[in-house]
Order: sequence, then structure tokens, then C-alpha cells
Amino acid sequence: MGEGKNLVGVDIGSSAVKVCQVKETRRGLSLVRFGYVPLAPQVITDGQVMDSGAVIAALQRAFSEAKIRQRECALSVSGQTVIIRKIVVPMMTPQELDEQIQWEAEQHIPFDIRDVHVDYQVLRRRPEASQMDLLLVAAKRDQIEAYAELARSARLKPVVCDIDAFTVQNVFEHSRGLPEDQTIAIINVGASLSSLNIVANGVSAFTREIANGGNAITEEIQKQLGVPFEQAEAYKCNAAAAREGRAPLVPPNVYAIIDSVTNAIAAEIQRSLDFYLATSGQGDIARIYVTGGSSNLPALITAIERRARVPVEAFLPTERIVVEGRDVNQDSFHQHAAELPVALGLAMRKEREARAA
Ligand SMILES: Nc1ncnc2c1ncn2[C@@H]1O[C@H](COP(=O)(O)OP(=O)(O)OP(=O)(O)O)[C@@H](O)[C@H]1O
Ligand SMILES: [Mg+2]
Repeated sequence: MGEGKNLVGVDIGSSAVKVCQVKETRRGLSLVRFGYVPLAPQVITDGQVMDSGAVIAALQRAFSEAKIRQRECALSVSGQTVIIRKIVVPMMTPQELDEQIQWEAEQHIPFDIRDVHVDYQVLRRRPEASQMDLLLVAAKRDQIEAYAELARSARLKPVVCDIDAFTVQNVFEHSRGLPEDQTIAIINVGASLSSLNIVANGVSAFTREIANGGNAITEEIQKQLGVPFEQAEAYKCNAAAAREGRAPLVPPNVYAIIDSVTNAIAAEIQRSLDFYLATSGQGDIARIYVTGGSSNLPALITAIERRARVPVEAFLPTERIVVEGRDVNQDSFHQHAAELPVALGLAMRKEREARAA
């Protein structure tokens, strides 16, 4: 754990801006402030910010509605421009590594090294082989800078930039711990993106971004039923509850659409799992955890389970968070609980952190 105060976790997702502020208490991690401001579907499409003004306004609204005064925040990036690789380098001192890392990274990154920000974590030192294993993380500078600039325009002070997949892993570790002797997969299925992180023996061994998510279901309902986005979204979100009589009935073909699109998403996830299993030479995946807004869909959990043939569980990132703040809108927080792994993972970051080495 780092020093200093917790940063405000700010997740700029394509469906909404989500902000969380937590503090450590004797009862555990407590949520003191929470903000959620939805974004219209055309504001961020396919991970690209199309309307910066709308995002800046949403950030400002999220902070003011949540009554957050602190400006120092943590952001994260994701998408296919983020590269995470396990690499092997010769044994060296931390200082040598700092000097060498750009060169080492260049061998593994398909972009011009001047365009990327490189970070790393030492996973294991193997003096007997004079080698060490690193987790190399590279993200395009312009993507990081674009997000930081949005935050600065909203009068925030971005201090840390993380990677979506790692923020989710942090929350999972806080809630459940990472199994020491098992391989698990944690999948965050959002609106337009899904991130897959395979954690083997407590360490991230493989990550991949899939450009697909819950929006594909909403769009298909829109198209087939000829209804506006909001209506299609409501049909999708109410479908499971409607079947049990807990929500107004939805048109019967909504179920077929949900089944067919979740199946396609599950197939893409399975392709990534198969790639990992074929290339890693490591043991099987013991369990899959699904989080993100789309993990609310029982059909998605079932579809992934049918293909992967291992137990699949919806993971609620709020399960170990105590709500403390009197100003937290409890209804909104619980309604959006599944959508908060990134914002909560970011809120766990501190102003100063020691590099794990
Ligand atoms: N109860 C529900 N049933 C089905 N889908 C839901 C439900 N609640 C939220 N969703 C879906 O979850 C998605 C939003 O999830 P999330 O907040 O994790 O995504 P995001 O972070 O905004 O997007 P991304 O990370 O893809 O840019 C939307 O597609 C939304 O329709
Ligand atoms: Mg997201």
C-alpha cells in the first residue's frame, strides 16, 4: 500500500462517468463520496471521445453532485493501444533497469517507442539463470494525454494513470484475494469494451481488450424493434426481471436478441481464452469472474459458462465496500454497483506509491 491520501477514482466509460472516493477505516474500505453521470451514446463511441465538451461537463457535474472537493484524481486508459507483456530481461539493478527499459520495451512493442509511455513491474528475479521476469506495460502517450487533458479542463488534477484491467484486478484482490496456486480469469464487460485479464498464481499473465460489450445488444434491439436507444436499453436491462414478474413485460424477441448477441460476445472471449491456453503452456483456468455493467445479464454468464466449461460467477466490485458517506446516494450506488470496478480500483490508489520491485 502506498502513502498519502487516496485519490478520487475517475472512470470515463462510454456509458457514464463514474467517480468514487474511499477511505481506509477500521471496518475496511469505506465509500465516502460517489458520483454517476450518464453519457449520451454518441459522446464516446468505440473508445474514442467524440464530444469532449460533454465529457468535461459530465466530470464537473459528477464532482459537484457528489460534493467532492478534492481535485487530485486517478484515471485509467484501456483499449487496443495498451500493451501488456511478460518479458524476460538479463538480471540488473533497479537503476540499470530504469535506464534500459526503453530499449527492452522497443523489442516488444509494435508502435514507435517515442509515442508510448512505458512502465514495468518486476515479477520474479531468477539469479540462477541471471534473468528476471518483468511485466511490461505500454500505453500510447496521446491517449493518456487526451484523458488527462479532459480532466484538467474539468479543473481536476490527474496524478495517476492506470490500466483498466489492473484496476479491476486490484478490486478483486481487495475483495477475494488472488489465489496463489490457481489460474483465474477476470473479465470486465462494459458498454463498448470488454477487458480480459488472466491471473496465474497471483500475477497477471495475459490481458486482452475485446471491442465488444453491452452496447451491441442495445443496438441490435434498436435495429430489430425499431425503437430509440433509451427504450432498447430499458428492454435489455429489464428483461431478466420481467421474466420473474419484477419488471414490466418486454417484447418476446428481446430475449432472442440478448441470447444471440451475448453468445457472440462469449465466443470472442472464448477465442482469447483459447489463445492463452494454447500459448502459455500453463494450467487450466479454474474459474471465471465477470464484472462490469453487462455482468448484470444472466444470459452473458450462462453463455460464457457454456463455452468455457468452468464455473463462471458474476463478481460485484462493491461486495467488500462499506458505504459510509451520508451524502452517498445509496440507490444509485447499488443500482450501478456492477459498473464500478474501474472507479473503485482507481479510488484505491494513493498519491505516492512505492514501486513494487
Ligand atoms: N441491469 C442491467 N442489465 C443489463 N445490462 C446492463 C444493466 N446495467 C447496466 N448494463 C449495461 O452495462 C453497460 C455499462 O457498463 P459499464 O458501466 O461497465 O460500461 P462503461 O465503463 O461505461 O463502458 P466501456 O468501459 O465499455 O467504455 C451498458 O451497456 C449497460 O446497458
Ligand atoms: Mg468500463
